[in-house]
Amino acid sequence: MEKREHDLVVIGAGPGGYVAAIRAAQLGLNVGCVEKETALGGTCLRIGCIPSKALLESSERFWEAKEKFKDHGISFGRIEFDLPTMLRRKDQVVSTLTKGVDSLFKKNKVVRYTGLARLDGSGRITIQNGAEKFELRAKHTLIATGSKPSGLPGVELDGRRIGTSTEALAYDSVPGHLVVIGAGYIGLELGSVWSRLGAKVTALEFLDRILPGMDSEIAAEAQKIFQKQGLEFRLGCKVTGAKANQEGCVIESQGGEPIRCDRVLVAVGRKPNTDGLGLESVKIKPDEKGCIPVDDHFATSAPGIYAIGDVIRGPMLAHKAEEEGIACVERLVTGYGHVDYNTIPGVVYTHPEIASVGKTEEDLKREGIDYRKGVFPFRANGRALSLGQTEGKIKILAHRDTDRILGVHVLGPRAGDLIAEAATAMAFGASSEDLARCCHAHPTLSEALKEAALAVDGRTVNL
Ligand code: NAI
Repeated sequence: MEKREHDLVVIGAGPGGYVAAIRAAQLGLNVGCVEKETALGGTCLRIGCIPSKALLESSERFWEAKEKFKDHGISFGRIEFDLPTMLRRKDQVVSTLTKGVDSLFKKNKVVRYTGLARLDGSGRITIQNGAEKFELRAKHTLIATGSKPSGLPGVELDGRRIGTSTEALAYDSVPGHLVVIGAGYIGLELGSVWSRLGAKVTALEFLDRILPGMDSEIAAEAQKIFQKQGLEFRLGCKVTGAKANQEGCVIESQGGEPIRCDRVLVAVGRKPNTDGLGLESVKIKPDEKGCIPVDDHFATSAPGIYAIGDVIRGPMLAHKAEEEGIACVERLVTGYGHVDYNTIPGVVYTHPEIASVGKTEEDLKREGIDYRKGVFPFRANGRALSLGQTEGKIKILAHRDTDRILGVHVLGPRAGDLIAEAATAMAFGASSEDLARCCHAHPTLSEALKEAALAVDGRTVNL
C-alpha cells in the first residue's frame, strides 16, 4: 500500500479544517487534508451556511418586491419567481466558493486527498476512495469532521417528503404546507425561505420559546415579527413521530392532533461526526454527547491528535471552528494560540436578522452578575427609517460596577454585520461608556449601537 508522510494531516475540509490546513502550511508545515466529498468546504459551503444564505437572499428580494416596494412608490405588474433559476444561482454560488478552496489549497501547497479517512493507530491514517486504499503518516493529526443532522425517534427520514436541511435547500417545488420540527437556527432560516416563496409554514418547537440560547426578550420579539410574516408556531410541542406516503405526511405529537402537510423539515440540532473514524484505534472515547473530549489547546487524550469545530464542545458555528483551527495550528508551531469564547457571535439570517454576542439576561441572572441594560429601538434610527426596516432593537448588557460590556443582542436590519462592532469592543474589554464615546457615522444603523450604549447610563439622545 502506498504511503505518504506529512507534518500535519487534517481530516475534513470544512471551514475549521480547510482554514487550519492553510494556516499550518503558511507557518511552514507540510500539510495534507483529507475530504470524503468531491467538493471542499464542508457542510457550511456545500449544504449549510452558503446555500441557505443564497436562497434567503433570493426569497427576500422576491418578498420585498411583492410586499414592500409599493411603500417606496415602486409598482409593477405581476411578480413571479423561477425556482429552477433560484436553485441554479445558489448552486453557482456554492461552486464558486468550493472551487475557491481548491485554488487556496494549491496556492498554499496543501496536498488534498479525496476519500474516507480512518485513524489506524498513532500517526497513521488510512484513506479509502472506492477501490483505492492508501496510507498517510502524520506527526500531527487534526480531526475536523464536523457534524450531521440529529434525527428524531419515530420520525422516518425518507429524503423526499421528510428530510433535513440538505433536502430543504433543494426542494424542486414550493411545498403547499411545510412543517418544520425545531424553531432554532435552521428551522427559522429555511422556514422563512419557503414561507416567502408561498408555502404555509408551521414550526413545531419542543420548548416554550423559539431560539433557545439566544436572549429570551429578543427571541419573543422576533417570534411576533415572524408571525406577522405568516409563520405559525406551536410551542411546547413534542413531536413523537412522522410518516410519509404518496399523498403527504402525518406528524404526531404528544397530546396534540395529528398534523398533515406536504413536507417535513427536521431541524432539531446536529451531532458530531465520528462514525468510522477509528477513534478506538487511538483510545479516544467520545463523551455522552458524542463530542471528542479535548483540553484547552484542542489536544485529545491521544498524543499528536487534535480536534476542533463541531466535533468538540461548544456552539456548532463555522466561525468558531475557524478560530479553533487557527489557534490549534498556531499553537502547534509557535507555542501561542487562543480563542476568546466570550466573543463568538451568533447570527440568524432571517428578516430582520438576529445577532448576539456574550451573555444573555438569563445568563447574568443565573450567574448572579449585577448588570445595567441599555436598549435602543430601530424605529428611532434615521437610517432604519429610510430603509423602511424599523422593527427590532439593540440591547446592551454591561456590568453594574465596572461598566464592562457583557452581552449585546440585536434584532433588526443587518444585525449580523452590526454585531461585529460589539464583538470587537468586547474582545478589547470595552465598557459601554467606551462604545458611547466612539464617533459613529450619520446616518447609519451603527448609531443605534451607540445609542444603546448611551442608554446603559440613561443618556440616549434620540429617544
Ligand atoms: P438548534 O439547536 O438551533 O435548534 C433546534 C431546535 O429544535 C431547538 O429549538 C430545540 O428545542 C428543538 N427541538 C429539539 N427536539 C425537538 C422535538 N422533539 N420536537 C420539537 N422541537 C425540538 O439546531 P438547528 O436549527 O438544527 O441547527 C443546527 C446547528 O447548526 C446549530 O447548532 C446552529 O448553530 C447551526 N446553524 C447555524 C446557522 C447560522 O449560524 N446562521 C444556520 C443554521 C444552522
